Amino acid sequence: MQGSPRLFSNNGHTVLLVDNKPFIILGGELGNSSASSTKYMVTVWPKLKKMNLNTLVAPVYWELMEPQEGKFNFTLLDDLIVNARKNQMKLVLLWFGTWKNSMSCYTPAWIKTDETRFPRARNQAREAQEIITPFSANALMADEKAFSTLMQHIKQTDSNQHTVLMIQVENEIGMLPEARDHCELANEAFSKPVPTKLIAYLNAHQNTLAPEIKKRWQDNGLKTSGTWNDVFGKSLATDELFMAWYFGVYANTVAKTGKAIYNIPMYVNAALNSPGKKPGEYPSAGPLPHVIDVWKAAAPDINMLSPDFYNPDFKYWNDLYTRADNPLFIPEHRFEAGVDAKAFYAIGHYQALGFSPFSIESTKKPEEEPLGKSYAIIGQLADEIYKAKERGSLDGVLLSKAADSAQIKMGDYILTITHELTLGWSPMAKNAEWPLSGGIIIGLSDNEFYVAGTGIVVTFKPKTEGQRAGILSIDEGNFINGKWQPQMRMNGDQDHQGRHLRIPVGEYGIQRIKLYSYK
Ligand code: DGJ
Repeated sequence: MQGSPRLFSNNGHTVLLVDNKPFIILGGELGNSSASSTKYMVTVWPKLKKMNLNTLVAPVYWELMEPQEGKFNFTLLDDLIVNARKNQMKLVLLWFGTWKNSMSCYTPAWIKTDETRFPRARNQAREAQEIITPFSANALMADEKAFSTLMQHIKQTDSNQHTVLMIQVENEIGMLPEARDHCELANEAFSKPVPTKLIAYLNAHQNTLAPEIKKRWQDNGLKTSGTWNDVFGKSLATDELFMAWYFGVYANTVAKTGKAIYNIPMYVNAALNSPGKKPGEYPSAGPLPHVIDVWKAAAPDINMLSPDFYNPDFKYWNDLYTRADNPLFIPEHRFEAGVDAKAFYAIGHYQALGFSPFSIESTKKPEEEPLGKSYAIIGQLADEIYKAKERGSLDGVLLSKAADSAQIKMGDYILTITHELTLGWSPMAKNAEWPLSGGIIIGLSDNEFYVAGTGIVVTFKPKTEGQRAGILSIDEGNFINGKWQPQMRMNGDQDHQGRHLRIPVGEYGIQRIKLYSYK
């Protein structure tokens, strides 16, 4: 459909196009229950504006959308769309369908109360869980019907205006309290051969498989047929692979049915597992890096598998989720100190499609939120970021007291970016903790760069041995209607008399620097 949101990949990087123009999601996700009250939402929109969001990530609740089977109510969604438009904002919608954080708590009462028609997952002791089994054809059919009615409604309401950018299918799918479902249907599937589609995928991707999957397959003789235990060996890890396949197939079927009606990007999100825990001790078999190939094979209609961050190791997980077949999108991050710096890093270094702290409306002082200051900068740079991606001259940094420096090679120079507090000029330098700092670097030519961010100092060295770098000019400025407007010439104390470019901690800015080399 003309101008509908879509992903466009070129030279190994992917952009979200909306109305055929690149769009970076400067988002925030609502707390789970907020979108169920139109009255409450009235207080939320002004806060979002004050934080310079361009996109709200908001749930659509199956229980309220289809309270009686076949009777749909789209009042809440319509309200979101109307208000998003009034506030010049876009939406990413979360389909709280069969699963929300492993559980089936958002399924309507007519599903919850009909165990015969919609059987539950069971543990080994055969106890039923508040989790609809992914092996239930009836549940899948009901979810597909509800989801396709939702997509039909979005198509009718929005296919001309493109307020709705993407859909998250289900929410943090995962098996608990054991690695695998032991209901009758699940046991039957477990005794069957591994689907040939998965084996074909493993064969075709032997060199790039997640190490955990490759090892299990190799250790068991790289078999190309057999039951799950034959092919991967009897273990909790195999139970998890099995569940990942069937969760993936279920989510994919829902997504594919929805896309057949209105084709916009769709993703699933993952609750990241804590290191050292066994399958079953964390929500298992969701779209996690150690089962990623099973999800990719099972769910080709899902564009992205996306990490939710309630876990400190930002770089570790982003490295695992950023792949040629998986552009990074961060639908959730705990709304905490440092998200301002992480937004720069995710979009600059990982070329993320977007970033979105969770429970965004919980702030009491939206106008003071550091995140809003980062979003104001990234919003201005959006076109430049896109052009830099095309040129291959975009990067980003994230710095802390422990990791206070990074190097980037770009154009004719090596840029060393350090945390501003390493200068020792600020009394804050003595603090036990430093705020995270971060930035985006854009190369305009071999000797000209935009540096944007907070709390960073940049020094330069020519790539050519024996040469030294000098600063010709640094201007601080803004983009107004997409055009660079220099405001202040940053010389003297501001560039340490020609030694560096600096954006202090607590400040957010864009500076354009021009360098020269001398011997
Ligand atoms: C991750 C989930 O995806 C969210 O919906 C929410 O439950 C947060 N965890 C925690 O509040």
